Amino acid sequence: MSSAIYPGSFDPVTLGHLDIIKRSAEIFDEVFIGVLNNTSKSPLFSLEERVNMLKEVVSDIPNVRVESFQGLLVEYARKKNIRIIVRGLRAVTDFEYELQLAQSNRKVSPEIDTVFLTTNIEYAYLSSSIVKEYAAYGVDVSQFVPESVVERLKSKYL
Ligand code: PNS
Repeated sequence: MSSAIYPGSFDPVTLGHLDIIKRSAEIFDEVFIGVLNNTSKSPLFSLEERVNMLKEVVSDIPNVRVESFQGLLVEYARKKNIRIIVRGLRAVTDFEYELQLAQSNRKVSPEIDTVFLTTNIEYAYLSSSIVKEYAAYGVDVSQFVPESVVERLKSKYL
């Protein structure tokens, strides 16, 4: 059985993330979405909120599970006996950071590889930060995030 981890902060999940999740779920038998519990960052949404939003939007994809993790990604993957990390690549600007992440992860854990999926061109410009910025100014973000996330963003910026 092929398994992969799609890690991220997901603060909040966007339609770009969801596109990568759906496509990963078609490639791998089982996909774990690893939501980072990063104590040094202060996300807009709590870990619980980010996990719940993801659970809601993937509830119709049977081979996707949502979990949180703390600490090193490769440790999380190793504990689950998973050897593939999935990341989305939007543009050249992502490349340097993603390459650094993938290569350092492989240096530390040579048995774990990173697979990149190129983001659907429709979402190439999209990021959680841009969504939050627009939402903070009251812009309708329904073309960027799932409907349930639109509502949660509204309540954050009331
Ligand atoms: O959605 P993001 O914030 O781009 O995701 C980044 C993530 C979670 C993949 C990355 O920060 C990560 O793997 N963090 C866990 C800590 C870790 O393993 N660091 C090693 C690489 S420096």
